[in-house]
Amino acid sequence: MSSKHPVVIYGASGYTGRLVAEYLREYHVPFVAAGRDADKLQAIMDKVPGIETATYECVAVEHTVEALTELFRGAKVVCNMVGPFATLGMDVAEAALAAGCHYLDTTGEQNWMIDVQERLGEAYAEEGLLLSPCVAQMYTNGEIAANIALEDHSIDTLDTLVLWGGDPTIASTASIFTILMADHLYLENNEYVAWPGGSTFNVAVPGQHETALVMTWGGIAHPVWFKDDPRVVTCKSRGGLFNQEVMAGVAQVVEIIETQVKPLPTAEEQQAAIAAITAQMPETVTPPRENPRVNRSLDSVIGSGPLGAVQVVLRGNNNYQQTALLQAHCAHALLTQPPRRVGFASACQAFGHRELLGVLQRFGLVGEPLLTRV
Ligand SMILES: NC(=O)c1ccc[n+]([C@@H]2O[C@H](COP(=O)([O-])OP(=O)(O)OC[C@H]3O[C@@H](n4cnc5c(N)ncnc54)[C@H](OP(=O)(O)O)[C@@H]3O)[C@@H](O)[C@H]2O)c1
Repeated sequence: MSSKHPVVIYGASGYTGRLVAEYLREYHVPFVAAGRDADKLQAIMDKVPGIETATYECVAVEHTVEALTELFRGAKVVCNMVGPFATLGMDVAEAALAAGCHYLDTTGEQNWMIDVQERLGEAYAEEGLLLSPCVAQMYTNGEIAANIALEDHSIDTLDTLVLWGGDPTIASTASIFTILMADHLYLENNEYVAWPGGSTFNVAVPGQHETALVMTWGGIAHPVWFKDDPRVVTCKSRGGLFNQEVMAGVAQVVEIIETQVKPLPTAEEQQAAIAAITAQMPETVTPPRENPRVNRSLDSVIGSGPLGAVQVVLRGNNNYQQTALLQAHCAHALLTQPPRRVGFASACQAFGHRELLGVLQRFGLVGEPLLTRV
């Protein structure tokens, strides 16, 4: 691949990938828009606003380690947007490593993060490369809020909450189903502990009188990122949608999965049962371009220690755009200077939480974090 194109967006035909293209254009970073269908890629790129001023090319690639390695060779950063990652991510992460590229993705799947950390974290570190899954609104924003709470050095315990408004994309919906089948882990005294299957909670939401039904949502990324952080001993994370009607439906699906799908003896039978559930649901379609009146995010982190507690609330809008901006910014940063850490590291560990907050604010996608002693 040409050295004129230092970034590869894999999955550029998707909802998030095309937004990454939009932001890479703003950063003046040449890129390869890669995916499985060249005509679809070009048709989608043609609709990206201002794309005629970007330096890019569309390339079709087979989803194999060999073909992806060949595509990535010569580039410096791979932004992977092809999910669910638990099923599709490992080939891409292996290929990026083989090609000598830093790896970023948009996953929200805790099980995939732990898997790729265990399998490839050390190999990336040995090559001086960054392996950073989940450079994304869910859950980088919560990590930014957590790190602001941790600026108070008396804090050792994190309780994180994320809520978002809007419709999920096709791959996001598929990813939600993969995490429902996995163990969801939190951190207790620096050890992973599994939440009881199907746990739901009613939580107080900053800025509104109604409580909200939320779930463990796959376990969320924060327990993974803070596992080896000397400042943190315990981290519990929960999340959900603002739309409580939809959340009630999700809770019913979770209940069915716990009681009727997980007990099935083979993976094939489980997959068939999930296919039967999804067949009864309305078909997922690619949502319209985001609108800040609809697409909102709220991250709330309560950081506590033996002597006190603080709450940090971070509000944002256009969640998929936030994700795409984080991807483009971090890819650009990797082209200009080494990350703060190599090997497996979160966006905040690799680039700094204040830097990422500033970027999201500069583009009008998140507000000022509100810190209160509680
Ligand atoms: N954590 C977060 O905050 C966050 C935010 C955004 C996205 N995400 C995650 O990022 C992933 C992508 O999201 P999206 O919004 O872009 O979804 P999307 O619009 O459905 O796009 C999915 C992309 O993956 C490609 N793809 C799907 N299956 C493939 C396969 N078997 N082989 C090769 N390519 C395949 C699609 O290619 P075709 O166009 O050819 O079908 C498309 O480019 C999802 O897992 C989502 O959960 C997470």
